[in-house]
Amino acid sequence: MRFTIPFVAAALALSVAACKKEPTTPPQPTAAPTAAPTAAPTAEPTASASAAPEVPTAWSDELTKEQKGTFMKKVIMPAMAPVFQAADAKKYAAFGCKTCHGPEFKDPDEFLPALTMKGDKMTAFADKPDVSKFMMDKVLPEMAKAMGMQPYDPATKKGFGCGGCHKIDMK
Ligand code: HEC
Ligand code: HEC
Repeated sequence: MRFTIPFVAAALALSVAACKKEPTTPPQPTAAPTAAPTAAPTAEPTASASAAPEVPTAWSDELTKEQKGTFMKKVIMPAMAPVFQAADAKKYAAFGCKTCHGPEFKDPDEFLPALTMKGDKMTAFADKPDVSKFMMDKVLPEMAKAMGMQPYDPATKKGFGCGGCHKIDMK
């Protein structure tokens, strides 16, 4: 355990170096690549937890659960808290993970009220026009941007839409 840490550190240092584009300093060949995989397994979790967590630049289904959590905390929260708080500072003073995930931490589409599509119309725009407009004009575009996605486009049926957070029932 004790001597595995230098190898992990070496591997980290290497990957950091690899990210910097410095063509003038050729990478130094070392023995680390072969040593790290065999030595690392038990030390890995603590070593990577103490290193600064890498924040993904965009949402992807490929991210690990941990990376998704980091992304939510570092990217989604700072992007979305001001959006909700600008609409109602008092109601959203305690804006947090729970606002979208609920107290039991469900997926948002299991926690938030489901929306209903009748034909090609979403009933919420008639039933709850104010909140729907806020969702459409503010929440959706900001969330799509923060996720690194395009907002939903009805023409192509692609992009991040109301269904990114709400379940949508087809009637
Ligand atoms: C503005 C709404 C919103 C807030 C606030 C929010 N999330 Fe999320 N979160 C989502 C949405 C939407 C998804 C689902 C994205 C997808 O799968 O396409 C998600 C997914 C996740 C996932 C992945 C779940 C899985 O099963 O893969 C984790 C983990 C997560 N959020 C953690 C957090 C944490 C921790 C916080 C607070 C720091 C937080 N979220 C705050 C909207 C939110
Ligand atoms: C980033 C996630 C997210 C997206 C995208 C989103 N919503 Fe929401 N929506 C929420 C949250 C969070 C609430 C709950 C707010 C609260 O607790 O006050 C909510 C609440 C609502 C409500 C109130 C539900 C009720 O019964 O009180 C309606 C209606 C609604 N959204 C419609 C929409 C529509 C229409 C769209 C697409 C244009 C949309 N939402 C997109 C997160 C989202």
